[in-house]
Amino acid sequence: MKMGNVAVLLSGRGSNFAAIVRASRSAGANFTVRLAVSDRKDAPGLAKARRLGIPAFHADPKQFPDKAAYEEHVCALLAAEKTDLVCLAGYMRLVGPVLLSRFAGRILNIHPALLPSFPGLDAQGQALRHGVKVSGCTVHFVDAGTDTGPIIAQRAVAVHGDDSEETLSQRILRQEHRLYPWVIAQFFAGRLQVRGRSVMISDE
Ligand code: GRF
Repeated sequence: MKMGNVAVLLSGRGSNFAAIVRASRSAGANFTVRLAVSDRKDAPGLAKARRLGIPAFHADPKQFPDKAAYEEHVCALLAAEKTDLVCLAGYMRLVGPVLLSRFAGRILNIHPALLPSFPGLDAQGQALRHGVKVSGCTVHFVDAGTDTGPIIAQRAVAVHGDDSEETLSQRILRQEHRLYPWVIAQFFAGRLQVRGRSVMISDE
């Protein structure tokens, strides 16, 4: 079986990254995580990557004249590891035209809400303030917008009356850690069919 090569872009904690690595190391996995790239030097996710024995790079946007040049650099890192699929996991930047065109249809993101509700920052806080009774997480293809690309899969969680942002985030995060590796496996199994905004997942 050909193994798919995954690169993870992150800016922070890296718990989804670690969950993806765990899944990649389980029996029967169809992908490997080749590298982690962070736009932030102090991202705990980079230290996690090094502990897990995965090449970890800090790509500093401030060292480049513009976003295109920064993304060209990121693309070179990804190409060096023969990246097939780019997974954003807490990557706090909009993806620009350079990355989007180089990896067209091959960039995923996970968002801690049931899109299209509550895109952008502080999704869990937005959900709580709105008073929804159900929230969850979404894995979607990335386009030029903020959390606007075609939705691949979602998992729901209940919102409790006494939830804080912390308790709700934790409940959602547990589902994120299951959903993201599953979607990546479906991608490499060739089961995702995209028709416009609609993504179908064919049966095993
Ligand atoms: C997750 O909640 C993810 O859905 C959002 O950013 C957070 C990243 O967490 N995009 P982690 O860095 O994976 O722990």
